[in-house]
Amino acid sequence: MIPLFVWLCACAAARPPPDPGGRPGGTPVARPSPPPVPRPRALFDRLGGRPAIDALAGALVQEITSDERINAPFAMTDLASLRRSFADFLCARTGGPCVWHGRDLRAIHEGMGITGAQFGVFIEDLARVLDRLGARAGEKQDMIETLGALRGQIVEAP
Ligand code: HEM
Repeated sequence: MIPLFVWLCACAAARPPPDPGGRPGGTPVARPSPPPVPRPRALFDRLGGRPAIDALAGALVQEITSDERINAPFAMTDLASLRRSFADFLCARTGGPCVWHGRDLRAIHEGMGITGAQFGVFIEDLARVLDRLGARAGEKQDMIETLGALRGQIVEAP
């Protein structure tokens, strides 16, 4: 037991003193902390927050329900309710402070037989609305990618 204790003491004594962080033998100098890494802003914020999302949802519902290529399935839909749901969905999906409490997209659209071509028209309408609302190129692209990525949950027919 005693030899091990002596060995431990010897090791501790042999270790160099901790670096004071300054000049050798001088007073410690505070190191500047590295600059904070900026967190990328959520698409929700870049678009302009909830007012912009509400405007987008309203304009998009207006656009798709007046586009004869895809408006047939909306014939019986309560558009005011669709606008609200859409705004909540977009808010959550773009990283805003909302939680989507509705059904999942697959369940919502199940049985509608939405085709790839109809989905393409929806995205085309989305792009037109974003242009009309003055979205910048980067935000427009990100929004199209965000909704375009949901294709597999909505399209049921080729
Ligand atoms: C990324 C694309 C899409 C998204 C994110 C989306 C999302 C939604 C959401 C959030 C609702 C509201 C559901 C609710 O209130 O419970 C909805 C309803 C609806 N969607 Fe979509 N949708 C998309 C594409 C489409 C397309 C391409 C069509 C058809 C051409 C379509 C047809 C409908 C219809 C007809 C309703 C209303 C159902 C009802 O009256 O209850 N959707 N969608």
